[in-house]
Amino acid sequence: MKKRILTGDRPTGSLHIGHYFGALQNRVTLQDKYDTFVLIADVQALTDNFNNPQKVRKNVFEVAMDNLAVGIDPDKSTILIQSLIPEIAELTVFYSNLVTISRLQRNPTVKEEIKQKKELFGESVTFGFLGYPVSQAADITAFQADLVPVGEDQLPMIEQTREIVRKFNQIYGKTLKEPEGKVGEYPRIKGLDGDAKMGKSLKNALFLSDTPGIVEEKVNSVITDTQKIYLRDIGHPQVCMIFYFHQIFNKDALSLIRQECKLGKRGCVACKRELASTINEFLEPIREKRKYYGNKPDLVKEILMQGTERARKVAKDTLRQVKEKMFLNY
Ligand code: TRP
Repeated sequence: MKKRILTGDRPTGSLHIGHYFGALQNRVTLQDKYDTFVLIADVQALTDNFNNPQKVRKNVFEVAMDNLAVGIDPDKSTILIQSLIPEIAELTVFYSNLVTISRLQRNPTVKEEIKQKKELFGESVTFGFLGYPVSQAADITAFQADLVPVGEDQLPMIEQTREIVRKFNQIYGKTLKEPEGKVGEYPRIKGLDGDAKMGKSLKNALFLSDTPGIVEEKVNSVITDTQKIYLRDIGHPQVCMIFYFHQIFNKDALSLIRQECKLGKRGCVACKRELASTINEFLEPIREKRKYYGNKPDLVKEILMQGTERARKVAKDTLRQVKEKMFLNY
């Protein structure tokens, strides 16, 4: 039997190239080797969007399209909607006994997010948001996943899942699998503005769904080396955000770009143009697949419904085992 992958996205916006190199690329490559489940985490998305359910609903479709566009193949992988698997919610309740409040408060990702969401949460965070790592442990273990390809920021969730699994197995007897995390080629991609992180809510992202024109516009507005005004000026690629992205998209031409820039033989305008066109080349097949599925909303819906149905069988089987071990098999 194939080993399993479970991974997921919160449907709160479109996915960007940070998601791609951090996590999506891995799940696409690994879907041949693993039985892969891609969860659209609408219940988790509501933990910090409870006041905006329409946004979550709309983005379920967007995130499904993003996954299909980058190459998640519905014949190989299973895409599912979290809220349609109530077994995950049940597991969450059982696991919540195995986690302390202070452990959740120490989770670095949760801590960081609470800081960012002061406006929503004020001085005191909700029970639901603080507890989302528990529900994420339920997502992962419902499928007895061996591997979880994720962005770097999600590693603390996997660590918490592993702790919950160990505790469950220790108290109730061996039932759950302890998953491993796997981070992509570029664990963290900087924002177009030079910020340490590209984020969908930070307005510094290149989205997988951006049109060629938008890519050009965004690349054009990136700040290069502020010391380099004229083409003949000597450039400092190590401080230039355009060079940073060349490192990701233009690996073959990298040493030439670096050399020309340093020698004052490369202008920033041309350098940007080259980057934009490489990014557009990279995005073209993704756009094409998106267009294919975009014209077939019924097909996408069917993929989600069939995926969810298949996934639910697996989650049901796990819940049955869990309840048996907890003497809840009436
Ligand atoms: N927390 C993840 C994110 O914000 C989404 C997610 C939900 C997830 N459940 C998961 C990721 C299970 C991996 C495994 O992107």
